[in-house]
Amino acid sequence: EISLVEKAKRAAAYKAVDEHFPADAKVVGIGSGSTVIYAVERIAQLAELRGIDLSKVTFVPTGFQSKQLIIGAGLNVASIDQFSVGDLDIVIDGADEVDDSLNCIKGGGACLFQEKLVGQCARKFVIVADSSKKSHKLGSKWIQGVPIEVIPMAYPKVEADLLRLGAKQITLRQGGKAKAGPVVTDNGNFILDTHFGSIEPSEVRNLDIKIKLLVGVVETGLFDYGAVAYFGETDGTASTFTR
Ligand code: A5P
Repeated sequence: EISLVEKAKRAAAYKAVDEHFPADAKVVGIGSGSTVIYAVERIAQLAELRGIDLSKVTFVPTGFQSKQLIIGAGLNVASIDQFSVGDLDIVIDGADEVDDSLNCIKGGGACLFQEKLVGQCARKFVIVADSSKKSHKLGSKWIQGVPIEVIPMAYPKVEADLLRLGAKQITLRQGGKAKAGPVVTDNGNFILDTHFGSIEPSEVRNLDIKIKLLVGVVETGLFDYGAVAYFGETDGTASTFTR
């Protein structure tokens, strides 16, 4: 038997796939983290249930873990550099915190850059998470703060810039027991976990733009284009929110 939080994640992912996986899907983005594992599981089930031929569908990963997930499920994998804006039917991705306007903090798994790249090539961005990720204002639940991917040689300079922008606390993400020294992303960069306090939904875009302008920043973990979100509950149900 799976734990209650896993049950919640599964409920969100299954419902999202049931309601949004197109019968005529051609190119589908698969996000990163533990919740999307259930989305891939459900896509395989749904193909059986609805007679969808998955050999005709191409899946685009958002990082190494996501790529292994797609390959492991026996699905066709492609690379995002084969596609551009509007080419993906849908992307299904997890999140670390989601506000009332469906803005998200992402990057808890350090995959933010490829997630944003794939997300911006999709016609619909579907968020799947357990309901503990739902919050009124970003920065009030995800205690690590906003992840910011930076070019390694620029990190001290970006830290100084972020303090000037009002950051309260910045941590160069470390590998912990798994790796001595900083976490290195799938793109060879570092992550600065940055606290800005709680962020008004109407301020998310402005903050994202300001951070993005700093020389050395590759991408921020602030996402403001979620179309629909599914939040799973521990009783196995899920609720839907649209922007
Ligand atoms: C990866 O960098 C994140 O954006 C993930 O999408 C996020 O951490 C969700 O992971 P879980 O589904 O495991 O919570």
